[in-house]
Formats: sequence, C-alpha cells, structure tokens
Amino acid sequence: MEENQSNTIHLILIHGFPLNQKMWSLQSPLQEKVNLIFPDLPGSGQKSEKSLFTLEFMAEEVMDEIKALKGRKILGGLSMGGYVALRILAKHQEFFDGLVLMNTRASADTNPVKANRHLAIRSLLENGMDTFLENFFRNALSSTTLRTSPEKLDFLKKIALEQNQEGLISQILAMQGRPDSSDLLSQISIPSLIVGGEFDPITPPAEMHSLAGMVQGSRLEILPGAGHYSPFENPDGFHQILLSFLKDNFS
Ligand code: MLT
Repeated sequence: MEENQSNTIHLILIHGFPLNQKMWSLQSPLQEKVNLIFPDLPGSGQKSEKSLFTLEFMAEEVMDEIKALKGRKILGGLSMGGYVALRILAKHQEFFDGLVLMNTRASADTNPVKANRHLAIRSLLENGMDTFLENFFRNALSSTTLRTSPEKLDFLKKIALEQNQEGLISQILAMQGRPDSSDLLSQISIPSLIVGGEFDPITPPAEMHSLAGMVQGSRLEILPGAGHYSPFENPDGFHQILLSFLKDNFS
C-alpha cells in the first residue's frame, strides 16, 4: 500500500508487554488492505531505554512517530499497547478514524495488581529474564496454543529476550502508575473494534464485554482458542474480523 496518499488507511498496532513490534509478524497479510505501522514502545526493540518513563511519555513517543500521516488512521493496541492507545486517544481523538482495542482494559491498576507488579520486578531480578519470560508466556498463552503451536511460545520468548531488564522494569512501573482511562470510554465517537481471547487469563472475555459495553456502538469479538495475545494466537480469526470491520466502516 502507498504510505501517504489521502485514501490510504493506516493501521497502527501497538505491541504488548514484554514484547516489541515483531509480535505483529503474523499480521503481514493485512498489508494488502492497509498500510501497517508497528511502533516500538520505549523500553522495547529499537527503543531500548535504561531510564524510567511514564505511560504518557510512551503515548507521546508513538504520537510523534505517526503525526505526519495523511489519510485515514486506525489506532490499535494490545494490552499494554491498549493502555497506551487510550492515553493517545485522550489527547488526540480527532486525529484518528477508528480504534482497535485488543486484550486490554481502561481501568488503572488496583492495589493488589500494583503489589503484584513489585513481585514481577523481584522475580525478574532474582530469577533472570529466561525464567521470568517462560512463566509469563506459559500463563498468557492459551493451553490450545501451547498444545497445537508450541513454537509460538519459543517465538515470543525469543523476541522478548531482545529487550533488556531495565526496559522491562520501566514498562512495569509505567503500567503500575498509569492513570485510569475509564472516563474516556463514553467519549469515544470513532468506529471501535474490541477483541478478546476465549482463554485470556489476564483480560478475560467478561472484562472485554464490559469494556465494549462502555464504548458506544463498538463491535466486540472474542477469538476462539486464543489466550492473551489473540491476534498472534488466532491470526486467521483476527484477520477475518478486522477485514469485516474495515468493510463495514472504511469502504
Ligand atoms: C501486556 O500483555 O501488555 C501486560 O500483560 C499488561 C499488564 O501486565 O497489565
């Protein structure tokens, strides 16, 4: 797709924790319909960071990368990427024509979740990246994915190991300190697609239902067989839904 023509549709997909833009590698077939943009967040991939940063900073970094785009722009984010997408939307909704929220939530961390973030940091420091990531992905991926596509766990671990410990810790602290975006949901007035995974233990289907209930006119889809990384675990299902969302709202 041409990158900057006025009829181009840009789909910006922001990755989750503890990954980088390579988590979207299975989404390349969408390139036939849209111009795909996969930013790396601070602390990830090309943006490895040794210093602390906030979620608002992460949002502004993505916005800086895309602000010159012409044409129609659909903003998407998965989990931590969804937290970032909502902070971008809080300031720049008029810049976007559509929204895709995947396996994410609008609320801030509760106190127990904040306490768990400290345990995650301790585990990362005491057990090292490899053990931390193995445990993290074994919990996040569905048992269907682990059974039928065990190579997906290896792939996620491989790309997660491209980050450094400091960058991941900064991302954990940024998520822990993020503001609540719930009030924003009722103000979203662009076509919105909300995607969950049938077996997501981190943002389960019930939570995706309540998120979708707060975004007026949004379309909710729960991907069969998928865990927390639904577009990666069920790419064909995701592409079908996305193409139908594009057809209904952008053709
Ligand atoms: C993610 O997948 O980005 C994280 O699990 C989000 C979180 O820990 O809140």
